[in-house]
Amino acid sequence: MSVIGFDIGTYAAKALLLSIKGKGKSQSVTLDGLGFSQMPSGVMAQWEDQPVPARTAMSAAMRTLVKLCKLSRGRYAALSLSGETMIIKKISMPVTSQKELRQSLALEAEQYIPYPISEVIIDGHILTTEDSYGQMSVLLVAARREVVYNYIQAIALTKVLKPAVIDIDVLALFNAYDFIYPNSSENVILVDIGASMIHITVLVDGLPHTLKEESVGGQRLTEDIEDAFNISPEEAESIKFGTTAPPDLNECREVFDRIVSNWQAAIDRAIEQTRAEVPNYNPSKIFLAGGGANINGLVEQFHNYYNVPADIFNPLTYVKFNTKKFDRSYIDYIGPQMAVAFGLAIRSKPEKL
Ligand SMILES: Nc1ncnc2c1ncn2[C@@H]1O[C@H](COP(=O)(O)OP(=O)(O)OP(=O)(O)O)[C@@H](O)[C@H]1O
Ligand SMILES: [Mg+2]
Repeated sequence: MSVIGFDIGTYAAKALLLSIKGKGKSQSVTLDGLGFSQMPSGVMAQWEDQPVPARTAMSAAMRTLVKLCKLSRGRYAALSLSGETMIIKKISMPVTSQKELRQSLALEAEQYIPYPISEVIIDGHILTTEDSYGQMSVLLVAARREVVYNYIQAIALTKVLKPAVIDIDVLALFNAYDFIYPNSSENVILVDIGASMIHITVLVDGLPHTLKEESVGGQRLTEDIEDAFNISPEEAESIKFGTTAPPDLNECREVFDRIVSNWQAAIDRAIEQTRAEVPNYNPSKIFLAGGGANINGLVEQFHNYYNVPADIFNPLTYVKFNTKKFDRSYIDYIGPQMAVAFGLAIRSKPEKL
């Protein structure tokens, strides 16, 4: 059964409902519903300190999207966590099956998590199977129980949805890529440039290896443009979108370059971290997603800096849709920003909840 993928970011709430038919080469994906709505400023960034307003805003956004976007066929919601609300770590542990993984992880996880184990929900994903020492490598994901509870509450508050999947942004991004390029063995780096964060997924031979998030996103660029020209957030955003010309082109270029070099430094750190375990690691391609991927000239900047192909990752290119219902140019434009929602919408409701 299909689920609605909800990506509730700090800037915008995104929702996708897909129908997936067939398997392998004969698989076809149809777009049933797509929703986008801006979030009230600041509220989602305060999960830790003020969970109630965040939960209320999240729930309101999901309800609005279900109504506006005619998503009523979907009853189940898939959501994802990001930011300081969770911990992701690649660990090495004795071999177990995926079935027994959670139990074994509970024993292993304690040493990696700065909270009492009773306060977190842990999950894991086996990355590579047995090595010569009988160890396997696992992606350990731990989220504060309280945060997951708030997400589930937000879904319940909509009164029309039930929780089906709680994922994490960086893995949803990988799942979206893996769905479109199954069996890829490339060293791709997936970069989602959101408003408050940049989410980085480094793949080694097609598998997720290093997953990182850093808190510098498109919002910082808007703020820096505001400060540079002493203008309103709306004017700054319009310059960032390329709709209004900046008062001074060179100064504006400097502001853009400064933020882009912050993003590149974050990716460089992820590459370095990967090289600590895979000494000769080099990316073969950079894929950009998230609202920030639309920044004019960004793809070229990444291509020049890393000297590998760079492109926009738009999962909606692979989806069929009724052109009477959806506008093609809008789908092309919004697709990269829908990457996480896509990675969630391709999940199915588990048999047992
Ligand atoms: N055409 C565009 N040009 C430049 N920036 C854009 C464009 N479209 C959107 N953005 C920027 O992208 C950001 C929003 O992207 P996105 O919806 O992926 O963020 P989010 O998921 O809400 O944020 P986060 O994941 O950090 O919580 C905003 O900073 C917005 O200004
Ligand atoms: Mg986001």
